[in-house]
Order: sequence, then C-alpha cells, then structure tokens
Amino acid sequence: MSRILLTGAAGFIGHHVTAALLARGEQVLGVDNLNDYYDVSLKQARMARLQTLPGYQGFNFAQLDLRDAEKTAAMFAQYQPELVIHLAAQAGVRHSLQAPLSYVDNNLLAFTNILEGCRHGSIKHLVYASSSSVYGGNTKLPFSEQNVVDHPVSLYAATKKANELMAHTYSHLYQFPTTGLRFFTVYGPWGRPDMSPFLFADAILNGRAIKVFNHGKMLRDFTYIDDIVQGVLKVLDKPATPLTSTAPYRIFNIGNSQPAPLLDFIALLEQHLGKTAPKEFLPMQAGDVPATYADTAALEAWVGFRPQTPLASGLQRFCDWYQDYYATTQPQLAHA
Ligand SMILES: NC(=O)c1ccc[n+]([C@@H]2O[C@H](COP(=O)([O-])OP(=O)(O)OC[C@H]3O[C@@H](n4cnc5c(N)ncnc54)[C@H](O)[C@@H]3O)[C@@H](O)[C@H]2O)c1
Repeated sequence: MSRILLTGAAGFIGHHVTAALLARGEQVLGVDNLNDYYDVSLKQARMARLQTLPGYQGFNFAQLDLRDAEKTAAMFAQYQPELVIHLAAQAGVRHSLQAPLSYVDNNLLAFTNILEGCRHGSIKHLVYASSSSVYGGNTKLPFSEQNVVDHPVSLYAATKKANELMAHTYSHLYQFPTTGLRFFTVYGPWGRPDMSPFLFADAILNGRAIKVFNHGKMLRDFTYIDDIVQGVLKVLDKPATPLTSTAPYRIFNIGNSQPAPLLDFIALLEQHLGKTAPKEFLPMQAGDVPATYADTAALEAWVGFRPQTPLASGLQRFCDWYQDYYATTQPQLAHA
C-alpha cells in the first residue's frame, strides 16, 4: 500500500483511476479545484459516487488550485506522497484557441508546481497525462513514440509536449522516475461533456444535426476508459528507468490501435441510442488533426498490456450510463 497523490480526481479519467486505486486498498489524496470548464455538478456527482465504492475509507479530498505554488508545496509537505498521478489539466483542443492563457496556467505553471513538489519530497514515481495531440501534423501512421513530435497544431498539444520536456528535465536533474502517458481520445461512462460521444449523443437524442467536421474524413483511435485505467495502474507499478537518455524517463502511447472512421462511430451511437440524427458536413476545424492511431508496442513490451475493448461494447456502456444519468435532466454542454 502506498501514499498516492492523484490530481484531477473529480475529472473523467481521475475519477475512474481513483476508484480503481481504492478498490485495491490504496491510500489516495485526491486533489481538484472543481473548476467550471464544464458542468461542476457532474464533477460533484463523480465525487459522490466514490463514497459508494469499495475502499472509500482510503480516500481523502483536498479542493486545491495547483496553480498556487505555496499551497501546492504545503500540500506535498503535509501529505508526503510516494507516488503521484497528475491528471489535472485544462483539457480540450478546440477551447485552447479561445482561452490560451488557461492552458499556460493550468498545464505549464501547475505542472511546474507538481514537479517542484516531487523534487522536494521522496517520490518513487510520477505518472502524468500527456496526449495523442502531441503528434499534431505528423502524417506517418500509426503514431509511434519514436516519431519526432515537433509539429503541434494547437496550444493544448504544445503544453502537453512541453510537459514531457519538463518531466525529462526534472528526472534528469533530481533522478526521480517520470512516465508520461499519451492518451488517445478516451470515452466511457462519466465522460466529458465537451467531447464527441457526449455532443453526438445529445444531438441524436434531441433530434439536432450532428456537426461532422472534415466532411466525415476523420479517423479516431477511441480508447475505452477501463483500458486507460488498467494502463495507468500497470505503468504506475513499474517506475521508469532510463532508455533514451540517462534520466529515468519514459513516454508511452495508450490507445486502442483500431482507429474508427467518424461516420462509423456516429452510426454505432445511433444504433445504441435507437435513433438517427441529420448530419451537417463541415470543413476541418482549426487545431484538429484528421487521424489518430496509436502504436502501443512499447507499452505492451513494458507492462504486458494494451487496450482492447471493442468500440461497439465500450459505446454500449457509455450509452447505457448516459441515458441513465440524464434520464431526468439535460446535459450542460459548455464549451462545445
Ligand atoms: N479525455 C481524453 O480523451 C484525454 C486525451 C488525452 C489527454 N487527456 C489528458 O488526461 C487528463 C485528464 O483528462 P480528463 O478527460 O479526465 O479531463 P477533465 O477535465 O475531466 O479532468 C481534469 C480535472 O482537473 C481539474 N483541474 C484543472 N486544472 C486544475 C488546477 N489548476 N488545479 C486543480 N485541479 C485542476 C479539473 O477541475 C478537472 O476535474 C488531462 O491532463 C487531459 O489533458 C485526456
């Protein structure tokens, strides 16, 4: 049993990772500032759900803004985590065109505060969220960790790549292991209202047109949340060792490796929800990429695991949850 600090605990991925850690009997301090980038009541409902799950007695929560260097340092000093899972961030590619400073503050400044906390503590391993978006304008598929990622096409992607560089620096200077996970479009129950499964489900159920960007010529490597959780836990349990430099530093893709055409994805949602929606075909959006496709050989070689939930069964579980959760209320799709 370890003392684990998990940031972004009220978020989509953080919630599920917290639940899995508690189920295996860990002590977890969850941190989140519960910001209103999207519906705060969904974040609160995720937190409330934890109370009903096995292992909840191992959980503590601190509402804290990681942009605050002093408070973050005090939290590290008081809790003295051995393992850190940093998932808090300003997420969302499209929103980064509207609110760039939020990405600088929450993804660069807050991450520096996390690295400083790790530097001054006795950290055995820091695992943090990067993103498939770092591959940006790369055209070689599937995306491999060995590819150069110097072509971000959104500030969000640039902050995630910067996080990887910053983590390497701290791993080198202070010799604590860091592992960055490049998540590929994560979906599932308790998901994020600004992401396509939510937006499309809402449009389908309410008879509104679905906005189909790049005229539908998009491929997305949708990755089911339970696979992401398993991957995070397996990686957490195996601290990074040096590979491409002398620093104990690793980067892994974590994706389904089965990219789906956008129109197939929409058709599956329509099938599960028992309704179809009109489509509005639109050009590519700024900041977006036409295809994502994860090469997960490195992850599999490292921890013997790769995501494998088929899209059809993962989406079925998402739709079941969505219809149950929003049976009596309408989702708030802020920042759509
Ligand atoms: N969901 C995906 O498909 C996906 C894909 C690639 C990468 N990621 C990354 O994975 C991580 C988790 O994503 P998610 O989908 O769960 O997003 P999310 O927005 O649901 O969760 C992030 C949480 O972090 C909290 N947070 C943000 N800034 C904070 C701050 N300054 N201090 C404290 N808390 C703060 C938010 O309140 C939120 O609850 C993020 O780093 C995201 O960039 C997600």
